[in-house]
Amino acid sequence: MANIESKRRVALAALGHVKDGMVIGVGTGSTVSCFIEILGERVREGLKILAVPTSHQSAILLAEQGVPLTTLTEHPSLDLVVDGADEVDLDLNLIKGGGAALTQEKIVASATECLIIIVDSSKVVKRLGETRGVPVEVIPMAWKLVKYKLEKKGAKVVLREGMGKAGPVVTDNGNFILDVNFPEIRNPDNLERELNSIPGIVENGLFVGLAELVYVGNDKDLKVLRKK
Ligand code: A5P
Repeated sequence: MANIESKRRVALAALGHVKDGMVIGVGTGSTVSCFIEILGERVREGLKILAVPTSHQSAILLAEQGVPLTTLTEHPSLDLVVDGADEVDLDLNLIKGGGAALTQEKIVASATECLIIIVDSSKVVKRLGETRGVPVEVIPMAWKLVKYKLEKKGAKVVLREGMGKAGPVVTDNGNFILDVNFPEIRNPDNLERELNSIPGIVENGLFVGLAELVYVGNDKDLKVLRKK
């Protein structure tokens, strides 16, 4: 079970990669929030960096911590990106989007050669899809058509409902999220491309071949998974 200590441990490990003068991408979620808190402390102590956020959540937290923000327009190439994940397999492929931020997260991840993922051990799986479906961001007018097409392929599809809001989750990009459960994901690479070829799908939460290393934390220690 994730606790604050394991999140702090992986956040500190990721922070070890951040050096003066870097431009970094910052993901979304509770583990990354812990990273942002420690990053803020270092910035207040004099660390000079710029950060590209991947969501309103990370932009707000970074600003509150006094971390200077920038954009991909000013800095289209990033020294590194730190993000969380919802599932990680042993090839370092990921499912992301539990926080509905997958599209900006994938764009920002694609702007670096060094994507560092920070998770607790409950996120590590043998095969992607073991514990959850694949989040898919869709243009609102297309959601039912996309759902219908995915169901024809054998998936179970649920329109994600909001909390503290009536109706569906609306992403930072103004779209809806479908949570798509396939009976089994044998080839994440093919599935990632297949999903993105359906008109109306903006992006999906399969991140294949992007992560460079993954810090996995638990109550007592830390493990590193590296790209083979
Ligand atoms: C956000 O959309 C996701 O991709 C997050 O990175 C993911 O949900 C991890 O969140 P936690 O660190 O809160 O588990």
